[in-house]
Amino acid sequence: MADALPPVRIRAFRVADEAAAVALWRDCGLVRPWNDPHKDIARKLLVQPELFLVATVAHDGEDRLVGTAMAGYDGHRGSVYYLAVAPGHQRLALGRRLMAEVEERLLAMGCPKTNVLARTGNAQVLGFYDKLGYERHEAFSLGKRLIPDI
Ligand SMILES: CC(C)(COP(=O)(O)OP(=O)(O)OC[C@H]1O[C@@H](n2cnc3c(N)ncnc32)[C@H](O)[C@@H]1OP(=O)(O)O)[C@@H](O)C(=O)NCCC(=O)NCCS
Repeated sequence: MADALPPVRIRAFRVADEAAAVALWRDCGLVRPWNDPHKDIARKLLVQPELFLVATVAHDGEDRLVGTAMAGYDGHRGSVYYLAVAPGHQRLALGRRLMAEVEERLLAMGCPKTNVLARTGNAQVLGFYDKLGYERHEAFSLGKRLIPDI
């Protein structure tokens, strides 16, 4: 129901958002012991910072950060990390709006396809991506750490 939607603003991340963003990621279970989220932010601010988005809602005269999406385009595929919506604001279409904004920005850069990774322990998020038209790949996700954070 449109009336239930809070007035939301989606904009690029600012340095002043850092503490709220990291707190949100912790609330949403996205912080892993081997990743330092502050280092992740510092690195992102050096590469396509315009693709690091936050969603805010006005609360007591202040903008409160309630969502994030950290996207990138490598010239072949787009990717999205740290998609998060504050637990108290979930199921209000904020995740959909953040992803729509990411996709619009990636498309404007000529990105033909975007990929997301969902951890096997987070299978419940698949229903969300189904609704957004994301297809499941038959592929292994592999990674190699080049810079240890911790
Ligand atoms: C995943 C997440 C970002 C979704 O944000 P959200 O704002 O609650 O999602 P939306 O309200 O925009 O949902 C869009 C659609 O997906 C559906 N949906 C959302 N979460 C769902 C879920 N867990 N299972 C099934 N459907 C879901 C909604 O009902 C809605 O459907 P509709 O458009 O037909 O009404 C949020 O749940 C979250 O932050 N989770 C914790 C962090 C996380 O797992 N991030 C993703 C890492 S890959």
